[in-house]
Amino acid sequence: MIRFEQVGKVYADGTTAVHDLSFEVGEGELVTLVGPSGCGKTTTMMMVNRLIEPTSGRILVNGEDISTVDPVKLRRGIGYVIQQVGLFPHRTVLDNTATVPALVGWKRSRARERAAELLDLVGLDPAVYGSRYPAQLSGGQRQRVGVARALAADPPVLLMDEPFGAVDPVVRERLQNEFLSLQATVRKTVLMVTHDIEEAVRMSDRIAVYGEGRIEQFDSPGAVLGSPATPYVARFVGADRGLKRLSVTTIEPEDLEEPPVARLDEPAAVAAARLGAAGSRWAVVLNSAGELHGWVAADALGIAGEHGTVGELARRMDAWVPVGAPLKQAFSEMLQHDAGWVAVLDGARFLGVLTPAKLHEALRRSVDADAQGVGRDEVDFDSVSDA
Ligand SMILES: Nc1ncnc2c1ncn2[C@@H]1O[C@H](COP(=O)(O)OP(=O)(O)O)[C@@H](O)[C@H]1O
Ligand SMILES: [Mg+2]
Repeated sequence: MIRFEQVGKVYADGTTAVHDLSFEVGEGELVTLVGPSGCGKTTTMMMVNRLIEPTSGRILVNGEDISTVDPVKLRRGIGYVIQQVGLFPHRTVLDNTATVPALVGWKRSRARERAAELLDLVGLDPAVYGSRYPAQLSGGQRQRVGVARALAADPPVLLMDEPFGAVDPVVRERLQNEFLSLQATVRKTVLMVTHDIEEAVRMSDRIAVYGEGRIEQFDSPGAVLGSPATPYVARFVGADRGLKRLSVTTIEPEDLEEPPVARLDEPAAVAAARLGAAGSRWAVVLNSAGELHGWVAADALGIAGEHGTVGELARRMDAWVPVGAPLKQAFSEMLQHDAGWVAVLDGARFLGVLTPAKLHEALRRSVDADAQGVGRDEVDFDSVSDA
């Protein structure tokens, strides 16, 4: 969808911003350019909508050499989100969002309707925020308007330059997640720029790690973290890249242990006998609908005698994650609840538990899957200090 062919840019003062770039962003793919400040990311991005012209090579969008396309027409098919957002201060949020549809000749009423839809999509109630001015929004809300505006004319391609850079880390993570769920629906071809490897890892299908004006590695987040192509990449992704893999490796059903299960309304003695037979010191406790309630210790069941029910002895357990969540979320739940395991749910249904040992296995499995022929000692997350 976006294709760079040996693209170079030398500025008028002789600065070479990028050399000989060749890569492709597939349709519906989210590719991130990540690298330190000044390595040529913004230059690369601005060549796609011809705000900057390359000095060598060519760029194709949807198979067409963009140097032959009228820049204004080109930009109509390319949404552009920048860190400073660039909203018009004297226009309402609704009018800001409707800018591009209005420019491309939609009727005013239709443009505003579309703008309202988009505001809704990015989590801003148009009835509340539509009539406000940009200065009356928080930084995070302004960023949302920036995204809504870029999507308003439904362009197939989206360029985002440090789109979440201007907000605090908590809002930033929320915006990233919102954007990802939005992207799951709209499936734009996205080229994003960031200097933040965490952001790149969290959001991308593939990552281009930039050194000075060139790509050092172009790969999936797992592969960039698991087997950095060069010492530069290893340094850039950080000595804690093993830890970062936690956020790109998801919990699969086969990672789970299946401990004994007891029901809230079950007689304690019955549950105690079952735990005894299984040689288990505890059981997960579910309610009558099969939803997670908590856990119960075998010892507690044992001293309850004939009469008690599991429900009287069970403790609540709030450490749970949905299946498919990143291992990092499970680990974080364990720490937060000071728990030795977390329950893994599919919707409300209990699937099993993830223990630290299983988490370790899952992480190792994902390293093996991505390493593809790279020696174990080069990718072992237990020995990241070699980075
Ligand atoms: N208009 C310009 N004229 C000369 N040099 C520029 C210009 N714009 C950017 N540069 C230089 O090109 C290099 C890449 O800049 P940029 O693409 O903005 O990097 P990044 O977005 O990765 O921080 C830097 O050395 C920068 O100083
Ligand atoms: Mg930049």
